[in-house]
Amino acid sequence: MAADTGSSPTSLATLRDMKQRGDKIACLTCYDASFAEVLQTAGVELFIIGDSLGMVVMGYDSTVPVSMDNMVHHAASVARAGHRAYRVVDLPYLSYESATQAYDNARRLVDEGGADMVKLEGGVARAHLVEHLVNLGIPVCGHIGLLPQSVEQFGGYRVQGRDAAGAAAITEDALALQAAGAGMLVMECIPAALAKSITETLDIPTIGIGAGADCDGQVLVLYDILGIAAQKQPRFVKDFLAGSGSIDAAVRAYVAAVKDGSYPAAEHVY
Ligand code: KIV
Repeated sequence: MAADTGSSPTSLATLRDMKQRGDKIACLTCYDASFAEVLQTAGVELFIIGDSLGMVVMGYDSTVPVSMDNMVHHAASVARAGHRAYRVVDLPYLSYESATQAYDNARRLVDEGGADMVKLEGGVARAHLVEHLVNLGIPVCGHIGLLPQSVEQFGGYRVQGRDAAGAAAITEDALALQAAGAGMLVMECIPAALAKSITETLDIPTIGIGAGADCDGQVLVLYDILGIAAQKQPRFVKDFLAGSGSIDAAVRAYVAAVKDGSYPAAEHVY
């Protein structure tokens, strides 16, 4: 069942209830007001205003050059139109190196960017920052598995947690973030079996990207589902515009496929 995207805004409680009921959460990245209106009307209940905007909107090779000003600008654009969706906004690279810096920047994303929740990358090593922000009243989404802001350290965009030690470390990351007070968790590029086990263990909603069908919700980069990405695409990406005929139909097809579990299919999973 889709969340009510007609009048009542999606809240974190809505998303938690969806997890409890086993209703899949449809999430896309969103970077501007026009798409915010299209996406929420088509039934997308969760937006991630991601620092992927550095690549798909700004033309950088990675998310690393994205600044706080860039994030505030795009988050505020989305918030002006996309107030019926729950909006998670990325803290960009090097914007959360200390508790004080993390709070000051998270506060900007909430106050100037209209964020409902902020997202930061990392598990055990960042749990103290999550706890700090949550204690000061800022909801936080964790992000584990492949961490795009640390892609150089990972040796490129590779699946994480394939061996037992890697899987155990990622599970530990997930538990540490939930214990620190994270309200939601993005899991990127990990084996489906690992994502399933973490999703079943946690109380908070998990949103997968390249993490299999058993997460509580799915996210993809908006431009990827519209088939306009410049780079070679990872196996979990599906072009929903092909055969749909319009952007609105493509987004509705994505939402329907997430809800009925037909996306991700076996060919999209590690
Ligand atoms: O930056 C981003 O868009 C993200 C999502 C893909 C999860 O972090």
